[in-house]
Formats: sequence, structure tokens, C-alpha cells
Amino acid sequence: MIGIIGAMEVEIRNILDKMENIKTKNIGNVDYYQGELGGRSVLVALCRVGKVNAAHATSIMIANFDVTGIINVGVAGGISADVGIGDVVVSSDLVQHDVDATTFGYALGHVPSLDDAFFAADGALVNATKKAGENVLAKYGRKLHIGRIATGDQFIASPIDKVMIEGNFGALAVEMEGAAIAQVCTLTNTPFVVIRAISDKADGTAHEDFPAFVDETAQISAAIVMDMVSNL
Ligand code: ADE
Repeated sequence: MIGIIGAMEVEIRNILDKMENIKTKNIGNVDYYQGELGGRSVLVALCRVGKVNAAHATSIMIANFDVTGIINVGVAGGISADVGIGDVVVSSDLVQHDVDATTFGYALGHVPSLDDAFFAADGALVNATKKAGENVLAKYGRKLHIGRIATGDQFIASPIDKVMIEGNFGALAVEMEGAAIAQVCTLTNTPFVVIRAISDKADGTAHEDFPAFVDETAQISAAIVMDMVSNL
């Protein structure tokens, strides 16, 4: 069974609407929805915003359900100038942009005691997302990008922060859960991919663009997940 995690209701709503025979379980104050999507068994979790919530929901999912892989779906801020609102970024790998142990010689983003700052997504899940994404995005006239996603417990809405995240990490997009999910999946050898549609440009316009585009763009990333799951 494939696991799907979204932080906000708007990010999983379209998927839940298409699911059949849903059974709901609440564990550790997180709602898990088990059912069928396009004839496949899936488990959807609403994790809430931020790294700790995301790690909590991911650990519970892996410990309590028989998931063979995890997809994190939702929206993100665009970091690279090439990435426009409505485009989709699929994770090649992820990093926590707000981790800093440089005092002790670690690279920015590297959590001491872990092997690496970057968590690589599963190649087969990235390829499946690419295939589904190309189908779906042709309908929306938007582009699919594969690259690094940066995660932190901050909503990025300033050109200075944006330049820092691009310069330090070469990330295409920024959000608030992906690398936490990726870290838990890496620690437990669970394949994962993060699929994010761009709701804003993470700059001085983000406070207006995010509310204006979150519904429409969340629908794009959910559409890719639904196409992908039915072909897995
Ligand atoms: N999710 C969507 N837009 C974002 C932004 N600008 N910063 C962090 N997370 C986001």
C-alpha cells in the first residue's frame, strides 16, 4: 500500500474526494484515511504544517501500516526563477535549510549525527511521478521540474531569504515538511518522493499569491498523485 501525506486539508481534499471505502483511524492525534484510489489501496494522512508534525505523522504511518512507499503532496514556494506558479517540482533530493551546525564544521543543512545533509528520493517513484506529471501538466499548460527541495519551519516571503536558499542549496522550491518526511523515510529505508505545485514565489508577493493560488495549485499536485498511483 502506498502512503500519501499532506500538511493541509486543501492539499489532500481532492484525493480524499476520489477515494472509495474509506476507513478512518486517529493515531497520535493524526488522521489516517485508508481506502482505494483508482483500484489501488492507499493510506492518506493529514499531518499538519511544519517539520515536527510531518516527522510525527510519517513515523506513525511507517510503524502502524504496511506502506511500501510514501508520497508527500502539496504546494511550495518557487525559489528558482525558472519555476512559475502552477509548475510542479518533483524532489530529486531534500535538505533542511534551517539546520545550522556550521560552528562544528558541518555543512549548512547537515544534521549532526546523520551521514548527509541531503535525502535522496526514490528513483522509481521520481520516474513514475515524471510520467504522470507530463500527462497532467499538458492539460494545465505548466512545466514539471525535477530538482532539490528545501524545507524549514518558516514561510519564506522575502527576496533575501529566497536568494540565501538558492545560493546555499541550489533548491528549486521551498516548503515546510518534505525534508522531515524524507529524513524519517531515509532512517527507516522507506522509498519516498515529494511532489509540490508552486503556489507563490517565496518573495514579497507570497503573502498575496499563496491564498490566491493555494486551492488551484494543490489540485494540480493532487491530480499528479492520482494519475501516478493508478499506474504504479
Ligand atoms: N509553501 C507554499 N509556499 C511556501 C513558502 N513561500 N514558504 C514555505 N512554505 C511554503
